[in-house]
Amino acid sequence: MGYGLRKEVLGLEMYVAGKPISEVKRELGLTEVIKLASNENPLGCSPKVKQALKETIEEASLYPDASNYELKMAIAKNIGVKTSQVFCGTGSDLLIRVICSTLLNPGDESIMAEVTFSRYDAGTKLMGGKSILVPMKDNGLDIDKMVDSITDKTKIIWLCNPNNPTGTIFRKDDLERIIDRIPENVIVIMDEAYIEYVTDKEYPDSIALLDKYPNMIILRTFSKAYGLAGLRCGYGIANENMVKYFNTVAGPFDVNLFAQKAAVAALQDKEYLRTVQDTNKAGKDYLYEEFKKLGLEYIETNANFIMVSSKIDDKILFNELLRKGIIIRPGYLLGMPGWLRVTIGTNKQNEQFVKALKEILDEQLIINN
Ligand SMILES: Cc1ncc(COP(=O)(O)O)c(C=O)c1O
Repeated sequence: MGYGLRKEVLGLEMYVAGKPISEVKRELGLTEVIKLASNENPLGCSPKVKQALKETIEEASLYPDASNYELKMAIAKNIGVKTSQVFCGTGSDLLIRVICSTLLNPGDESIMAEVTFSRYDAGTKLMGGKSILVPMKDNGLDIDKMVDSITDKTKIIWLCNPNNPTGTIFRKDDLERIIDRIPENVIVIMDEAYIEYVTDKEYPDSIALLDKYPNMIILRTFSKAYGLAGLRCGYGIANENMVKYFNTVAGPFDVNLFAQKAAVAALQDKEYLRTVQDTNKAGKDYLYEEFKKLGLEYIETNANFIMVSSKIDDKILFNELLRKGIIIRPGYLLGMPGWLRVTIGTNKQNEQFVKALKEILDEQLIINN
């Protein structure tokens, strides 16, 4: 093959991201397109963030603070940990790679659910590790089976909570049941990218467990509820000794100046976050009702997206929705053919989506009968 590429790189598959709005407009000649494909925040970011971004323009010629000092202070204060326990990156996506690069040797195993965020698998394979995929239980993670799958070779266990793409969670008592069964030398990653949307009262307080379990890492992001996906900023919380190594492996300027300033401002606007959460809850209730009326099975979610059965081939439904200017994520790309993952949008977007869905299903079911 040439180039002297590492065999791990040759085996990797390119990540298929949600289609960008501009691409759909270009390809289909549409002027109005809505994207409910990548679990972004349909309300955008807080006005306080916009103001902070404007004020930052004058500093664009300067490198950002390599230590992320203000950002780490703001995060630490917000969740009640020490700044030395916090590490930041260009989205939690990069942190997944940093963690894999820091921990995995070729042949090491990392355990994950069969249907979960695909970047755990990619990060593992990049380092020559082996992904152990554990089948789902009731559309959620089978955390008992995941722990049963630990061997001498296991280095990492990835617990995505809420899980992308199913939106399911495991609760406090579930975590308490398994956590002591995980050996100290196995790193437990709690990926909580969607934590701000969780409505279940029994959701585990992972931060409270950090002191007792130094092998635990929590990942969170500003891309979802804080509406900063385009700026790329995520963070991890872990034992401070481990954090030192992650900071060594990560690049000094991974979090750019604008992302740092925006994230600090976002954490200060608690009222905006509440509006985001309320809008998501109302959208979720609306979509549940509409799915019921359409006779579509759905998985109850604790995130800002819902997995709903597609009734017809999900690839066809995806393309038909695209033609109507609505981008969603077809299940076949997520390991769940026959399903769609739709991000909960604004009221208007949700209504547009439901209207289009109804029209397509009516048409297609007539054609097929
Ligand atoms: C479960 C989960 N973790 C991590 C990420 C990465 O988010 P980001 O890199 O934008 O912080 C995503 C993005 O969709 C996700 O769904």
